[in-house]
Amino acid sequence: MEKLRVALVTGGMGGLGTALCRRLDAAGFRVATTYSPANPSPEGWLAAQRDEGCRLRAYKVDVSNYADTEWMLQQLLAEMGRLDLLVNNAGIVRDASVRDMAFADWSGVLHTNLDSVFNLSKQALEPMMAQRWGRIINISSVNAQRGAPGQANYAAAKAGMHGFTKALALEVARHGITVNTVSPGYLRTRRVTQLPAVEVQSAILPQIPVGRLGEPAEVAGLVAYLASDAAGFVTGANIAINGGQHMC
Ligand SMILES: NC(=O)c1ccc[n+]([C@@H]2O[C@H](COP(=O)([O-])OP(=O)(O)OC[C@H]3O[C@@H](n4cnc5c(N)ncnc54)[C@H](OP(=O)(O)O)[C@@H]3O)[C@@H](O)[C@H]2O)c1
Repeated sequence: MEKLRVALVTGGMGGLGTALCRRLDAAGFRVATTYSPANPSPEGWLAAQRDEGCRLRAYKVDVSNYADTEWMLQQLLAEMGRLDLLVNNAGIVRDASVRDMAFADWSGVLHTNLDSVFNLSKQALEPMMAQRWGRIINISSVNAQRGAPGQANYAAAKAGMHGFTKALALEVARHGITVNTVSPGYLRTRRVTQLPAVEVQSAILPQIPVGRLGEPAEVAGLVAYLASDAAGFVTGANIAINGGQHMC
């Protein structure tokens, strides 16, 4: 069957982003992703996906820069013709206690993790409203819901993301667009596996009742559901996927 719907996953070349792109491709979307100006080898990642049968497009953009996202979205619409699903996944960490946190670490995380959600979602609304169907899914974090020492910047940005989700969900529900937040716990991605093994064993795993890290593919499966027609009644939700680490 010809693939019609178009998905854009920001930060698709990272640990979770790769699983999201692949799962949405398998779900029948034509998938585009973004890479940051700092990414040294987008072609290598694209070639690796192609080798595994996954044909993706990629656009260079700094998601924290409004003008850059505006230009990128226009280019995507010109080349792919439509936009049906936006997954705001790009994000960074710059951990430090508030006492030691430089203003640049505060504002850098807010710009990249939260401004980006406004920047991309705003661009996505017009095409989604015109076709009276759309899905926006914002990737937050368990640490937005429970806090984490050393992550005031990250927790603030990720918690702000869900406030944005709820307000936008109310604004666009009548246009056939749903907006949801997905809040993963610790995943088996480079961000976590590069930590000292002893820290993962002694500080992270004991907090997770199911006794393991989450798989990126598990989060991607949830995102694919939220992106489907079957999830049309789910909007404004914040769905936890954290192995029981935090329940609310
Ligand atoms: N891993 C976890 O355990 C976990 C848990 C909860 C929530 N999350 C959230 O899940 C998302 C993905 O996490 P991950 O582990 O896959 O992280 P990751 O591997 O570090 O990927 C993050 C992606 O964000 C992109 N990015 C960063 N700054 C950017 C900018 N200014 N403009 C454009 N793109 C930018 C990077 O693009 P380039 O590669 O092109 O530079 C990268 O691909 C993040 O929002 C994270 O906060 C992760």
